[in-house]
Amino acid sequence: MQSYLKHLRRVTAVGAVALAAASLQPAAATAAAPTPEPGSVHTKIVGGTKASQGEFPFMVRLSMGCGGALYAKDIVLTAAHCVNGSGPNTDITATAGVVDLQDSQAVSVKSTEVLQAPGYNGKGKDWALIKLAKPIDLPTLKIATDDKLTNGEFDIAGWGADKEGGDQQRYLLKAKVPFVDDATCKKAYGDQLTPGEEICAGKLDTGGIDTCQGDSGGPMFRKDEAGQWLQVGIVSWGEGCARPGKPGVYTEVSTFAADIKKAADGLAG
Ligand code: ARG
Repeated sequence: MQSYLKHLRRVTAVGAVALAAASLQPAAATAAAPTPEPGSVHTKIVGGTKASQGEFPFMVRLSMGCGGALYAKDIVLTAAHCVNGSGPNTDITATAGVVDLQDSQAVSVKSTEVLQAPGYNGKGKDWALIKLAKPIDLPTLKIATDDKLTNGEFDIAGWGADKEGGDQQRYLLKAKVPFVDDATCKKAYGDQLTPGEEICAGKLDTGGIDTCQGDSGGPMFRKDEAGQWLQVGIVSWGEGCARPGKPGVYTEVSTFAADIKKAADGLAG
């Protein structure tokens, strides 16, 4: 199994990309995350806390330095900007089943194929599917097919930076962020935002809680009426991380639900 350090080296190998203000680049971990002391207090993602083992069983860490979620037992839903295009691909390792990436119980499976959103050009449409060499026996995350639950508070989780320019994390971090409507988000981002394909979330007034570099591709989710986890977003971009007035921007999963299903059916064969 791949060690966490090796994993970080792979992330570094992607290239030490400077963190542009509103960058879509996957995380460029320039240094290994410090090993936190067991039992110490971690306030991470940005402004979050440690997730407990099994709390978000569908969470996946991808070796290029992104997050993802199990759409099917052998298909990971992530961000288009985390992958290089579509086609056969055995370069990606998906790690799941643990909050601690160094846990010996971690399940690591290689990719066989990648499908990047058709028409993806860096604006909107930030989704991709990664087919795995074998199924992972963990719960999958259902995706929203309409915007009925695009409101309230959302859950976010990831192994990305705990602050702008911060290190990638060994332990899965989580936080909650409130929905920000399109009109309000447009005021922050103008034409950079693609309403209808993107939704925003974050603490507009104070900032302080957000996803950040390395969380990309991971899910934004909430409970549905039946108390089941439902994915409403995919971590995509933001200006910096957790800045007041600059919410996180997420792929609007419901907009692409039919496309994602079709693409997944195409990969299944
Ligand atoms: N593009 C980043 C990545 O590749 C995610 C940035 C999210 N930023 C934010 N402020 N919510 O990891």
